[in-house]
Order: sequence, then C-alpha cells, then structure tokens
Amino acid sequence: MVLRRGRWSTAASIVVALVVVASSVAEPPAPEREMQEALRAQGLPIGLLPRGVRGFKIDGEGRFEALLASACNAQFENEVHYDANVTGTLSYGRIASVSGISAQELFLWFPVKGIHVDLPSSGIVYFDVGVVFKRFSLSLFQTPPECRANPPEAGGTPAAAVDGVHPSLLLSGVPPGHPRSRLQI
Ligand SMILES: *[C@@H]1O[C@H](CO)[C@@H](O)[C@H](O)[C@H]1NC(C)=O
Repeated sequence: MVLRRGRWSTAASIVVALVVVASSVAEPPAPEREMQEALRAQGLPIGLLPRGVRGFKIDGEGRFEALLASACNAQFENEVHYDANVTGTLSYGRIASVSGISAQELFLWFPVKGIHVDLPSSGIVYFDVGVVFKRFSLSLFQTPPECRANPPEAGGTPAAAVDGVHPSLLLSGVPPGHPRSRLQI
C-alpha cells in the first residue's frame, strides 16, 4: 500500500516535471507572448517581429513598443533589420506609423512605414516602404524568425550601399564612425 502510493506519487511528479519542462520549452517569454497575442488579435502573423522580444507594451489606442535584446537582422525573402526599439500602431490587419524596421531591396535599406495584410487573407503581407508596397508571402511570417545581432561596426542600422556592392561588404566594410546614409523617401 505504502509502496503503491509511493510509486503513484513518483509517477505523478515525473508527469508534472515533464509538463513543466515541455511548457517552458514551448512557451516564449511573457513579453514575447503578449506581443504575439496582440498581433494575432488583429489578424496579423506573429512572425512580423522576431524572437527575442524582451519588453512589450501597448496602450488602448494600439500604440506599442517592442524592445529587443539588440538590433538584429532576420532573413525572409529579403533581409529585414530591426532596431532594438520597434514601435508602431496596431489595428485590424495593420501596423501603422512603424519605426525601427527596415527592409533591404537591391542593396538599399528602406525604412518600413507600415505593414498590412488583406483580411480575409489573400496570403500576402505588404510592407509600405514609401514609394511602393513590397509584397511578401504571408507564409514567411507564420513563426517569429531568429534574428542575428547586427554587427556593432555597422552602427546599429545598416548603411545604404551603392548598387553592385555585395551585402556582406555592406555589413562588414563600414568603417566605425562612418556617417550612415539612409535613403529618405
Ligand atoms: C522607443 O521609441 C519610441 C518612439 O521613438 C520612444 O518614444 C521610446 O521612448 C523608446 N523607448 C526606449 C526604451 O528607448
């Protein structure tokens, strides 16, 4: 009797331990989860912002601030750069007044001003980069991407490059203190 009860409690604690381990592996940290819930609630894919969100706050108007451990780059179809502080205004199917995200196109970095999806979904995510809407497949944003810390010598935000310069030169070849030129639209 004592032995059986002992076995049961051992089994129960193993199950509890497994559940705790599994949930701690599967669950992103609280700010990241909160951010993902906020995106989902507006019909947006959670992969629009990368993993590693350390702080998240949003007000009643949908204005949010997401803090990353560091500025970083993620690879979708294009390279996308995130500043350590990404802000914007969430509404249904849309992030407006975006700051802190830029997308690379033809070796130039364009600040992303807004992001939207069609609802009901057409499977496309639109990045408003000022002159055009850059279209991406929605499927690219289903899970938050790993984000590689941006090399400090690039100064946080990648510099704009001249056409024909390989992106690796862009990131490694910018001398410290080099004035960052960003394409203004
Ligand atoms: C993040 O950026 C917003 C908008 O530029 C600014 O108001 C806010 O203070 C910044 N937060 C931090 C922690 O730097």
